[in-house]
Amino acid sequence: MAGNPLDKKSQAWSALFSEPMDALVQRYTASVGFDRRLWHADIAGSLAHARMLAAQRVIAAQDLADIERGLQQIGQEIEAGRFEWKLELEDVHLNIEARLTQLVGDAGKRLHTGRSRNDQVATDLRLWLRDEIDAIAALLAQLQRALLAVAEAHTDTVMPGYTHLQVAQPVSFAHHLLAYVEMFARDAERLADVRARTNRLPLGAAALAGTSYPLDREAVAHELGFDGLCENSLDAVSDRDFALEFAAFASIAMVHVSRLAEEIVLWMSQNFGFVDLPDRYCTGSSIMPQKRNPDVAELARGKSGRVIGHLMSLLTLMKGQPLAYNKDNQEDKEPLFDTVDTLAATLRIVAEMVGGMRVKPEALRAAAARGYATATDLADYLVRKGVPFRDAHEVVAHAVKLALARGVDLAELPLPDLRALHPQIADDARDALTLKGSLNARAVRGGTAPAQVRVQIERHRQRLTGN
Ligand code: ARG
Repeated sequence: MAGNPLDKKSQAWSALFSEPMDALVQRYTASVGFDRRLWHADIAGSLAHARMLAAQRVIAAQDLADIERGLQQIGQEIEAGRFEWKLELEDVHLNIEARLTQLVGDAGKRLHTGRSRNDQVATDLRLWLRDEIDAIAALLAQLQRALLAVAEAHTDTVMPGYTHLQVAQPVSFAHHLLAYVEMFARDAERLADVRARTNRLPLGAAALAGTSYPLDREAVAHELGFDGLCENSLDAVSDRDFALEFAAFASIAMVHVSRLAEEIVLWMSQNFGFVDLPDRYCTGSSIMPQKRNPDVAELARGKSGRVIGHLMSLLTLMKGQPLAYNKDNQEDKEPLFDTVDTLAATLRIVAEMVGGMRVKPEALRAAAARGYATATDLADYLVRKGVPFRDAHEVVAHAVKLALARGVDLAELPLPDLRALHPQIADDARDALTLKGSLNARAVRGGTAPAQVRVQIERHRQRLTGN
C-alpha cells in the first residue's frame, strides 16, 4: 500500500503545492473545531456512497467491506471520545477519510471516487439538519400541549384583553393562551415545509459539474432517506437556502416565544400579579432580598436576538457568492448549529415553565373588572335596541366618563343615571355589563366565548394527539 497522502495535508489535494500551509492560514481555514459535529451524517453519507459505488462496480466488494469495517470502527472511536481530531486535516471530512485510510489502506482512498467535499458537506449538513428538524418538531408539539393543558383549566377564567396594552375587552385566559398555540402551530407548518426542501440529496454533484462515474443517485437518496435529488449540480453544491429557511423559521418561532415570555414577565410583576412561577424558574437578587426574578422568561426573550442575528449572518454569507461552491459556505455551520441549540433549549424550557405556571384567576378577574372592559357590551346592547352604533358609542363614552368621575365600575352605576344618558337602557343592561355576559356574547367562530374556546381546544387536542 502506498502512503497516506492525507497524513501530510499540504500534499493532500495535489503535489502541485511546493510549500506547506502557513500555520496561521491553517488555523484560519480549519473547521474541524466545529464541523466535527457532523461526523454521524458524514459516516452515513460515506457508507451510502460506498455501497452504491460497489453496486455500480466502481469499487470492488472487498473495498466496500473494508470501508464498512473502517467506518464502523471510526464511529465507535468518535463516540467513545477516542478519535484524534487533527487541525491539520482541516475538517470533519478529511479527518474521517484520513483515519479510514490509516485503518484499511487503499480501500479508504477509493471512497472519494466520484465525490467531492463540496457535495459531501452539502449532503452532511442536510442530513444533520433533517434530524434536528424532527427533534424540534417534537419540541414545538410539546410546547403547544403545555399551553393547551393550562388553557383547558381556564376556559372560564376572565382576564382583561388588551390593545395598546390598555384594557380593551374581557377575554378568556384560555383564549389568550390559544393565540400562542396558533402561532406555534403555524411554526410547525413552516418547519414541515423547510424539511421537505432540506431533504434532497446533493451527492452526485461532485465538485460542481456532476461526475463521469456511473453513479446511482436515486439509490443513495433512498438509503439515506432523502425524498428527492438536487437536480442541478451547481445549485446542489452551492446554495444553502435550506439553512436560510430554517433560520427564518427559527427566528419567527423565537419571536413568538419572545412575545409569550414578555407576557409572562409582565404577568408576574407586582403590577399585574396574574401568574406566579415556581422558584425553580426564578432567581433572587444579591442585594434586594425581596426579589424573585423571572430569568428564564427573560432569557427566552433575549435569546431571540441571537437567532435573528444568525439569520442575518446566513443571508449575508450567501448574497455575494458567485456559482458554485465557495469557501464562504464553511461559515454556515456555527450560526446554524447555534440556531438549533438555542431554539431547542428555549422550546424545552419554556414548555416546562408554562406547565409550572400558577395562574391566579381572582387577580385576572379583578383586573378585567377595572378599566371598563365591558363598555363595548353596553354599546352593543343599545344597538340591539335599535340605536345606531355610532350613537351608542357616544352614549357609552358619557357613561364611562360618569363612572370615572365617581370612581366606580360601569356595572355599579345606578339604573336611573344610565337611563338619563339614554332612555333605551333598561334593567337587562346589567347582564350585558357583567364579565361573564360579555365573554359569552362573543361566540363567533374564533371568538372568546368559553363555548367557542372549548371547541378550539378540542380541535387542537385532536391535531396534537390524534385522538
Ligand atoms: N469544510 C468545508 C465546508 O464546510 C468543506 C468543503 C470544502 N471544499 C473545498 N473545496 N474546499 O464547506
